[in-house]
Amino acid sequence: MTMSDQPIPSLTGWTEAELDAAFAALMREVESSAAALDATSAEAVEAFRLHWLGRKQGRLKAVSDAWLKAAPVEAKKLLGQRFNALKAQVEARLDDASSASSASALDAEAIDITLPGRARRLGAEHPLIKTLNEIVSIFQRMGYSVGVGPEVETDYYNFESLNFPPNHPARDTQDTLVVAQQERKPLRDRLLMRTHTSPVQIRTMEQQPPPVRIVIPGKVHRNDAADATHSPIFHQVEGLCVDTNITFSDLKGTLDHAMKELFGTSVKTRFFPSFFPFTEPSADVQISCPFCGGKGCRKCKHSGWIELLGCGMVDPAVFGFVQQKQPGYDPKKISGFAFGMGVDRIAMMKYGISDIGLLYGGDQRFLEQFG
Ligand code: DAH
Repeated sequence: MTMSDQPIPSLTGWTEAELDAAFAALMREVESSAAALDATSAEAVEAFRLHWLGRKQGRLKAVSDAWLKAAPVEAKKLLGQRFNALKAQVEARLDDASSASSASALDAEAIDITLPGRARRLGAEHPLIKTLNEIVSIFQRMGYSVGVGPEVETDYYNFESLNFPPNHPARDTQDTLVVAQQERKPLRDRLLMRTHTSPVQIRTMEQQPPPVRIVIPGKVHRNDAADATHSPIFHQVEGLCVDTNITFSDLKGTLDHAMKELFGTSVKTRFFPSFFPFTEPSADVQISCPFCGGKGCRKCKHSGWIELLGCGMVDPAVFGFVQQKQPGYDPKKISGFAFGMGVDRIAMMKYGISDIGLLYGGDQRFLEQFG
């Protein structure tokens, strides 16, 4: 027998005493079904509610239908009062049940202070950022300040003011990623992703008269296909020193010292003639292979030397561009040197990383080795 087809108790008569006895039996029924109720189960509480108060099939409705219909007029009020009391009783039990069930839900959510805490694992500095900071701090110790510049740059700062002639093939060697829909602007205002950090040399000099000693770390972008040694985004540290009587010897001494700080005092440097539009003379700097000490190994392709950076004396034409805003950069009175190095390549050498993609893949198993 299910709850809904329980028989309706029979009434012996309509006196108050008889009605009280009949309702007392129903009250006991309410109490015993409430006592049997599993208050932690929302379904069981709902079933209890439907069993007693359901509008169509509820037991109160069935009993009231049966009794009220048969009742003589003078008994209807007595019946009504008792029904209301019975209904209030059912509702009170329902309230008890639902507060018990929400309390048990709270219990389930409560914090168990006996459980061990959640350990937060310490992050590790990314090998690129670590290398970049190391390079920057070597120059800071020599009195250099640190600057930054925008990654979305104009043709003027990225090329023109650095003495790249328009349509000169040197522009192509940098595989520039350009911003779309710039064709209607004059060439110099067109936006592109900077291909090197050198434009910040110009921005720095435009902002302050000489002397200048600054390093500029940052991201650069080129339209290169990714492989083990190329990434379309990589990092450079640019350097610029301008003052009276700055010579190529200063450049050599500064970079030789920086390389010894970076790779150890046994490392030697050598300077090869090169070309950059913004320096004259220009040089490529090689360091003796820190892996084999210069004897020749796979890392240095058996030459004993590894090429690491470009540099040179600032071309007077570059000062000419800067002078439009800062007349103090008079190439007859001042001179300077500049250099630029690839941070990714240096990080790969320092940490023995053979694929540049590992620096950008975000693989924790790789990164946590540097903690
Ligand atoms: N900007 C050059 C490049 O990305 C590197 C460079 C060479 C920077 C010589 C310099 C420099 O400041 O003097 O290839």
